[in-house]
Amino acid sequence: MPANTAALFDVFGTLLDVYSVTRRAEELFVGHGERLARLWREKQIEYSRLRTLSSRYASFSEVTRDALEYSLQAMKIEAAPEDIVRLLDEYKRLAPFSDVAPALARLHDAGVRLGVLSNGDSEMLETALVTSGLHRYIDLVLSADQVRAFKTSPTVYALGPRALKLQAHQIAFVSSNCWDACGAAWYGYSSFWVNRTDAPLERLGVKLNGTGASLADAADFVMREFVKQEGQQGREFSA
Ligand code: LAC
Repeated sequence: MPANTAALFDVFGTLLDVYSVTRRAEELFVGHGERLARLWREKQIEYSRLRTLSSRYASFSEVTRDALEYSLQAMKIEAAPEDIVRLLDEYKRLAPFSDVAPALARLHDAGVRLGVLSNGDSEMLETALVTSGLHRYIDLVLSADQVRAFKTSPTVYALGPRALKLQAHQIAFVSSNCWDACGAAWYGYSSFWVNRTDAPLERLGVKLNGTGASLADAADFVMREFVKQEGQQGREFSA
């Protein structure tokens, strides 16, 4: 059993599809759902970065609400308070991508310690992971809230090695957000980018340890690089 093999996953956009809010947004504001979902996500990430750069932390729940309210105003959508609550509630039941549960189950069955390392605050993460059913595979929930900063701050990535008692390069980090995979690689993780949209690599001068199109590819990477196979030399580390 590879007791010291561990993989950490980003949550929003990697395990859970943030664009599953689109349907509810479209129901509420016909013709605007897709654009609203995109602007909301962009603003959410932008605000998380601005707040971290200026040391003005607010929880990801608050940032998410602020980003939604800004986006509605920018799009000149008159939303009733209950519509805002409905949209925010969607974040508690985001759909997992279809390739996620099989990949996590495979790694879990192989004895890999699995965790999440996310900008989401703990309550937000617990709710989203339980509602999606993914909690059964996850041993460790690491939240940026613990250090009151967001990725790509090194203080957030530092949570992983500290909790797992491994060095960063001994941990696989998996994200569909390329900037996050780059941040993790900068920190020293063995970083894998799940490029779901066939996007170009961010021009940040980062060499990632692996790239693929799905969580299944990420699971292959972890199995190949970290789990000792019969008759093969895997990279199994001791603490
Ligand atoms: C997260 C953001 C990046 O889950 O989506 O950390």
